[in-house]
Amino acid sequence: MQLQQTATPVDAKQKVVVWEAFDVADPMVAAAKDLYEQTLTADERIPWLWIEQSVADRAKSKPRPGGWSRHLLLATPEGQQDDPAALAGYVYGALLPGYGGYLCYVGVAPWARRLGVGTRLYDQFFKVLRVDSGELGEPLPFVIWESHRPDPLSPHSDWENWTARTRLFDRVGGYWIDGVDFLSPNFAADEEADDAPPVPLQLFLKPLDTPEAAFTPERLREVVAGLHRGVYRNEPGSPMYDRTLPPGCEPQLRPARAAGARTPPRA
Ligand SMILES: CC(C)(COP(=O)(O)OP(=O)(O)OC[C@H]1O[C@@H](n2cnc3c(N)ncnc32)[C@H](O)[C@@H]1OP(=O)(O)O)[C@@H](O)C(=O)NCCC(=O)NCCS
Repeated sequence: MQLQQTATPVDAKQKVVVWEAFDVADPMVAAAKDLYEQTLTADERIPWLWIEQSVADRAKSKPRPGGWSRHLLLATPEGQQDDPAALAGYVYGALLPGYGGYLCYVGVAPWARRLGVGTRLYDQFFKVLRVDSGELGEPLPFVIWESHRPDPLSPHSDWENWTARTRLFDRVGGYWIDGVDFLSPNFAADEEADDAPPVPLQLFLKPLDTPEAAFTPERLREVVAGLHRGVYRNEPGSPMYDRTLPPGCEPQLRPARAAGARTPPRA
């Protein structure tokens, strides 16, 4: 699909505003859907309808106790919050009580890239989750997110985008969880196709109330296991869980940029 190019000007000095979407009928939400579908490949994303549903639920009621607190944040240059063509970016994610923050998706319009919009969206997302955890009286130990590293033979543009991602992750204080290929279900596959291969993802984590040094291999295994259980409902014994955390797996935090290197094609 052709990437949406808009005539919307944005310059480095222009203020970007970020706010939370509460109305699924808002054309800005439709613009976020377009950006989401244009900038992420099908096997990296869940159906947009699920995101829309969480926006609708959030507007209706407060999250039930122990339930996820989901947020869709949108960004535009100041004064253009009603112009769908001015949508500069979005971020979507949730607080998982008793676990931590989970940032699911982020995207910036091609015309708005490298101007700090991605950084701004992450920072605002962290702030929103701080408010959520404060309301629950819980600490916010970390925020975690996943990202699909291109295949060694993927086109140059995919590797350029991977570099952009890992630099953004670095910029916002995220670390790469080295030593884990997190196997997740392929939502693009036909629901009937049980044999669709899982999608291997790299994990990134920003320590917040828990200091970086406390993320030992043991603690990181718990964090990774918690993601399987809490998000994908995978328990020990399920193939994706067991292949993500094989015996002897020793995950460690490394600078996010270290995940950016293009690996040589496998022989
Ligand atoms: C990845 C993405 C969100 C970055 O957003 P952005 O608004 O351009 O990022 P920022 O302007 O905040 O830049 C953050 C850092 O990344 C660097 N960066 C951004 N784009 C870059 C690029 N194409 N090449 C190299 N570095 C890049 C910036 O220089 C900055 O690093 P620095 O502070 O060390 O200079 C954006 O490229 C995008 O939407 N890509 C398509 C969707 C996607 O991949 N989403 C992520 C899913 S996990």
